[in-house]
Amino acid sequence: MRKPWAGRFKEDTAKTLEEFSQSISFDSRLWQEDIEGSRVHAKMLHHQGIISEEDLNKILEGLAEIEKEIKEGRFQFKSELEDIHMNIEAALIEKVGSAGAKLHTARSRNDQVVTDLRLYLKKEVVEIIKYIEEVEKTIVSVAERHLDTLLPGYTHLQRAQPILLSHYLLAYVWMLERDRERFKDTLKRINYSPLGACALAGTTLPIDRDSTAKELGFEDVIFNSIDAVSDRDFVCDVLYSSAILMMHLSRLSEEFILWSTTEFGFIELPDRFCTGSSMMPQKKNPDSLELIRGKTGRVYGNLISLLTTLKALPLTYSRDMQEDKEPVFDTVDTVKSCLIILKEVLPEIKFNTEKMKASSEEGFTVATDLAEYLVKKGVPFRVAHDITGKIILYCIEKGKNLLSELTLEEFKKFYEGIQEDVYEILTAEGSINAKKSKGSTNRESVIEQIKILKGRLEI
Ligand code: ARG
Repeated sequence: MRKPWAGRFKEDTAKTLEEFSQSISFDSRLWQEDIEGSRVHAKMLHHQGIISEEDLNKILEGLAEIEKEIKEGRFQFKSELEDIHMNIEAALIEKVGSAGAKLHTARSRNDQVVTDLRLYLKKEVVEIIKYIEEVEKTIVSVAERHLDTLLPGYTHLQRAQPILLSHYLLAYVWMLERDRERFKDTLKRINYSPLGACALAGTTLPIDRDSTAKELGFEDVIFNSIDAVSDRDFVCDVLYSSAILMMHLSRLSEEFILWSTTEFGFIELPDRFCTGSSMMPQKKNPDSLELIRGKTGRVYGNLISLLTTLKALPLTYSRDMQEDKEPVFDTVDTVKSCLIILKEVLPEIKFNTEKMKASSEEGFTVATDLAEYLVKKGVPFRVAHDITGKIILYCIEKGKNLLSELTLEEFKKFYEGIQEDVYEILTAEGSINAKKSKGSTNRESVIEQIKILKGRLEI
């Protein structure tokens, strides 16, 4: 097959290079954006008096036919034609002859590919934002059902203080809120048009970049033609935002995996989202969540992969940049699939509230509340901490598992000022009710959070 650049060449491209350098196997997914960009470009060429109305109409008809063929699965993508841009252009020329050969006037694949990618990411990022929002809404509704469910909060994976399950769940909604903002922010920078930068230096032909930018729904043009074709920072933005999002999803998954173990026994995952073992009949494995955790690795890898590809590239375009597509396509697919799975798994998780409540008091989780009780009696915190530590040690030595098992006389041996009311804060509920600070695990504060988050999510 004759290449568009064949004029300057004496030899045909090696078959091995054709196979090595083709991108059609993955960039064919940009076909819609490519056709959209070509339509707008052709209309501008006509408006600027560069091509005739007749040529424009032929181009538009040809593109419509190609669009239909692709939609119906009848279009033959050819790897000899390298990428989506040349596949569509060659098909157009085949259909409408010399009019088709005018489409590439004042355009290079260098500005074309990055225009396509920006149009593609605009759509995909909006989708991802929508999926994040749905997961957030799901978590909020689970949290609302668990306003009174107790849970031990952990530090160092050691029981630390009693918390409400709803408070814990909402922590992830706040994280996802920031993820959503990060993605929204990427949209601001994606939304600029590189079209008309041509190969790198612009063109001698009287094109109108502002009009194509506007027609394609971009905020404005990327002013500098070299910048326009050279940078892929907007792709990195998406990959980075995805990496952070996956880090959050992975931590949530990891926690639910732990909680579903016999050792924790806090939750039961839905059978529908678990699998069994081919050998051990008793097994029920949390594969859906493990895969979310596992896929985080490749999303991180995709970010590093593109950053590494770009780091030593001289301006402007180099073919290395073709390596931006697989990581970003893979990331977009992975992130969306993880969000979809999570949204389905979350509402079906059964919380073993009895077990969680019992665990929330064991391990002296209310010790800090006792120290603060002493502070309220006028004891300096450091001293209160020390007294409480001694009380805990006493409990351990006496084989008592809960502070509430001590009698008032025993307490008074450590500090005379301790009174009957101490027992109010020595349960998990008491500890939670006693919390006063803004954003704490107190029920009222959790209700306030739900209100704020519902407002942000427009529920
Ligand atoms: N397939 C190429 C890519 O993805 C399109 C641009 C090719 N430009 C070039 N000068 N070879 O980057």
